[in-house]
Amino acid sequence: MQVIWVASIFAERMKVLGTETAFEVLAKAKALERQGKNIVHLEIGEPDFDTPKHIKDAAVKALYAGYTHYVPAAGIQELREAIAEDVAKSRKIEVSPEEVVVAPGAKPIIFLAILACVNPGEEVLYPNPGFPIYESVINFVGAKPVPLPLEEEKDFGLDHEYVKERITKKTKMIIINSPENPTGGVLTREDLKLIADCVSDRDNVLVFSDEVYSRIIYEGEHESIASFPGMKDETIILDGFSKTYAMTGWRLGYGVMRKDLAQKITQLMINSNSCTCAFAQMAGVEALKGPQDSVKEMVAEFKKRREIIVSGLNSIKGITCKKPCGAFYVFPNITGTGMKSQELSDYLLNKAGVAVLPGTAFGAYGEGYLRLSFANSVENIKKALNRISEAIETL
Ligand SMILES: Cc1ncc(COP(=O)(O)O)c(C=O)c1O
Repeated sequence: MQVIWVASIFAERMKVLGTETAFEVLAKAKALERQGKNIVHLEIGEPDFDTPKHIKDAAVKALYAGYTHYVPAAGIQELREAIAEDVAKSRKIEVSPEEVVVAPGAKPIIFLAILACVNPGEEVLYPNPGFPIYESVINFVGAKPVPLPLEEEKDFGLDHEYVKERITKKTKMIIINSPENPTGGVLTREDLKLIADCVSDRDNVLVFSDEVYSRIIYEGEHESIASFPGMKDETIILDGFSKTYAMTGWRLGYGVMRKDLAQKITQLMINSNSCTCAFAQMAGVEALKGPQDSVKEMVAEFKKRREIIVSGLNSIKGITCKKPCGAFYVFPNITGTGMKSQELSDYLLNKAGVAVLPGTAFGAYGEGYLRLSFANSVENIKKALNRISEAIETL
């Protein structure tokens, strides 16, 4: 008998690459809309506000001023300077422009930093439930993902004993995200100190601090682990323009890290993207240096919606919901409905016309939860709450 061996066209590593379910649910919701169904979109993680006019004007001006060609791989000097100044002020640390790498969105910095720093077999601690790209890229480079469960009883903060037990000789990187996607949790000073203490007595362990929601915070001020004594050089700060300035489609983000790391990430940028869109970078300069009123207004509006969605969810049978401290997501506990996360999110999409994400889209510890974005109008949020309530009543 002849044995037919069919080799896969794809590299082995593709088998372990994950995804971001939000885009898949969006596609399903859009397909239902094409069939004439009305859907309320609470699945996608982006502000429903338009990019402020003065930022758009800066991009148009830059286009006509000739920012239409290649620019340095690590970013236009003007933007690197503006970022260095902004991060120095907000994190109360010294930052030089050479420590800034600009990228097409914040996401590529996650990919490139893990690619540049983590070897196969090394361990990376990361929040779970958490932004799914962390686990996906850790797996992709052949490293071992070590989940740090974020529990509702601890306000989605860290279990300190658990963290200490998970740090081994093989630990290469610890990823934290505050304010957090999907829980809206904010790490406490004690949480950050714990991570700083774990890293300070170890060589070659980096903290990757995803701070893309740092400006979307409802109580108190954002605190970065990079501000802790001795931590600046051990930390890669991730931030960007997508969430703060409602610029998700512009693809503009950045990492702040010590120079040797910045050079390696820049080399990866040269190998992958060449550089980030030039006129978008000039809009970034205006975003950071221009008026910040739009950010304040957006956060004030999110705060109002947070009250509505949290109290609405808490009045639905089988659902309980904590008030998130930052970002624009709620992460309600749905165990009282008797349904699994995936099952309930499918049910809500198909039956109630409300697109939400199952907690499990953010890792195994997200079972028993849903993620709803409140980056949608009050009218749509109320409509979604009514629909969810009715659909659950008829279960
Ligand atoms: C925690 C977190 N990090 C990074 C990103 C990526 O941001 P960007 O759109 O700028 O690539 C997101 C986007 O949803 C996020 O939630």
